[in-house]
Amino acid sequence: MPLSISDHPLVKHKLGLLRRRDTPPWLFRPLIRELTLLLLYEATADLALWSERVETPLEVAEVSVLAQRIGFAPILRAGLGMVEAALDLLPTADVRHLGIYRDHATLLPVEYYSRLQGIPTADIYLILDPMLATGQSAVAAVDMLKRWGAPRVKFVGLIGAPEGIQVLQRAHPDLEIFLAAQDRKLNASGYILPGLGDAGDRQFRT
Ligand code: URA
Repeated sequence: MPLSISDHPLVKHKLGLLRRRDTPPWLFRPLIRELTLLLLYEATADLALWSERVETPLEVAEVSVLAQRIGFAPILRAGLGMVEAALDLLPTADVRHLGIYRDHATLLPVEYYSRLQGIPTADIYLILDPMLATGQSAVAAVDMLKRWGAPRVKFVGLIGAPEGIQVLQRAHPDLEIFLAAQDRKLNASGYILPGLGDAGDRQFRT
């Protein structure tokens, strides 16, 4: 199941609020966080567990403990708004920021920052980027993580364009992609239609 589009009513409702042009940044940011939590709930549904015995105040209980270490790889800058929610859910995760921007003339990705030093310290890295538009930045992010030796990579975003999803799936057929919605298409400037505009600008009021 490489592509999962959430059909959760809360996801659909919150995404509708996010899309509205009159949603101001101070409402846009918490919506991004809430949607991230809901999507991460789905993206982490297959994490492995082991058992441990603990003492409750009353007796010994068999409990589950996460067996895999998780890392987050937010793509700057729009992915930043997803990190706080991700760390609320998994506070011990490491965060590997990736700076990739889209050249407005060529629409090609330019890598300008990477926090992938040393060796990978997590078993699974979740790339965080709200918009999967041309797919080029996402492909570059997966390339960077795989080159670095990340054992397993997933992509978590909010809205994907069919063109970008196809580019990403062609480049990385093994990648699991989690989205809140698949939209109609890209426009000539590489924006998703109907989309929500520029996710970075709308979060950071630029
Ligand atoms: N990035 C955005 O923020 N919005 C789009 O529609 C496409 C790429």
